[in-house]
Amino acid sequence: MTYLQTHKEKFLSELIDLLKIPSISAKSEYKSEVRGTAEFVKSKLEETGADFAELCETEGHPIVYAEKIIDPSLPTVLVYGHYDVQPVDPLNLWTNPPFEPTIIDGKIYARGASDDKGQMYMHIKALEILNNTNSLTCNIKLMIEGEEEVGSDNLGIFIENNKEKLKADVIIISDTCILSNDIPSITVGLRGLSYLEVEVTGPNRDLHSGMYGGAVANPINILAKMIASLHDENNHIAIPGFYDKVLELNEKEREDFAKIPYNEDEYKNALNIEAVYGENGFSTYERVGARPTLDVNGVWGGYTGEGAKTVLPSKAFAKISMRLVPNQVSYEIITLFTNHFLSIAPAGVKVKVSPHHGGEPVLTSTEVFGFEATNKAFEKVWGKKPILTREGGSIPIVALFKSVLGLDTILMGFGLHSDAIHSPNEHFALENYYKGIETIVEFYQNLK
Ligand code: BES
Ligand code: MN
Ligand code: MN
Repeated sequence: MTYLQTHKEKFLSELIDLLKIPSISAKSEYKSEVRGTAEFVKSKLEETGADFAELCETEGHPIVYAEKIIDPSLPTVLVYGHYDVQPVDPLNLWTNPPFEPTIIDGKIYARGASDDKGQMYMHIKALEILNNTNSLTCNIKLMIEGEEEVGSDNLGIFIENNKEKLKADVIIISDTCILSNDIPSITVGLRGLSYLEVEVTGPNRDLHSGMYGGAVANPINILAKMIASLHDENNHIAIPGFYDKVLELNEKEREDFAKIPYNEDEYKNALNIEAVYGENGFSTYERVGARPTLDVNGVWGGYTGEGAKTVLPSKAFAKISMRLVPNQVSYEIITLFTNHFLSIAPAGVKVKVSPHHGGEPVLTSTEVFGFEATNKAFEKVWGKKPILTREGGSIPIVALFKSVLGLDTILMGFGLHSDAIHSPNEHFALENYYKGIETIVEFYQNLK
């Protein structure tokens, strides 16, 4: 792939420019930088030789859309990615500032390096290669959004309103991981998500914890108790009806999970933990790929400043996420949680549950147009047949691509679980960046 070899520097310096823009979709103070990132992506698509590229306005951040139609009678691939990134806190744990991309040991460190700017940009560079070497044999549409990390609500509306424009044969997304650079893999499952916030209110104001302590319900104590009761001794989730729709793994699927190479010592060492922990009766990969979860993402209330303040707080809060598996339904799980959580609140406190965003779980088909081409591309570039895996993360729009557009998705991810996405010191291996670009080019050439 000579074009890639001779343009490696350029491809890297453009990625660095992209990573410098702080496109944090969750924070309104970055609104203009988020737009600036969309403009950057648009201009790169234009330079790359797209027929046109445009910003599609939404109630929130814009969607970048571009097309390269060489012949309407040929198949069309729709590429989806996201240019927005997660917030960076805790900032003090970053070795290098998150928006000053730094290369160390062949890895580029920056927020969004792997999720998803680095992976999304590979598609734009693959298009550049195909275009400049006259090797495009199908039509390509690209839709790059700026609200994936905040739930993709406006993209949901956009696809409802643009069914004709988005007509394609298959959707390709690079926003997931491979097992390792020695064990290439294709993701065929993603979990869904129900995210909510709870508020427990006790007395009408913070109280002196000596004058009132012991006589009035402490909302933080109560919240801790309520949260603790949400799992039983087997780490099953103790919400009535929670597992009713869970599609249990069959024997063949469990055998396939057991075949995925897994080194528990490596797994533990990478996280500096002495034991893995989860639902009894399931392996680590099953727990992550095929079982639902309930996790507290944040909890606060009372006095958390320096030193001690003797206070019995008026309120306690927690943010809770539940990862869902087929065939659980996001809003149904919200309802089950809410009813249960309200029912276990003791007298003396008031409880409020407020839902945030959610998304449905997916299993993608291996029988779709382009899957064989993906398989072959991985085998050629990574030297081994890819194995199939299910991942624990969520990309809520994938289920809507199927239900709204009738389109299947191929999850052609190139990240590594060690990339520290959503964490301090997120990074992406340059080897994966370049090999990813090569794999995408190879994929298009196998589509013939
Ligand atoms: N790219 C991730 C999802 C992902 C990561 C899937 C790794 C598989 C492996 C995506 O950007 C993400 O972070 N999604 C959110 C969901 C969203 C509604 C905020 C998630 O999974 O928390
Ligand atoms: Mn992502
Ligand atoms: Mn993400």
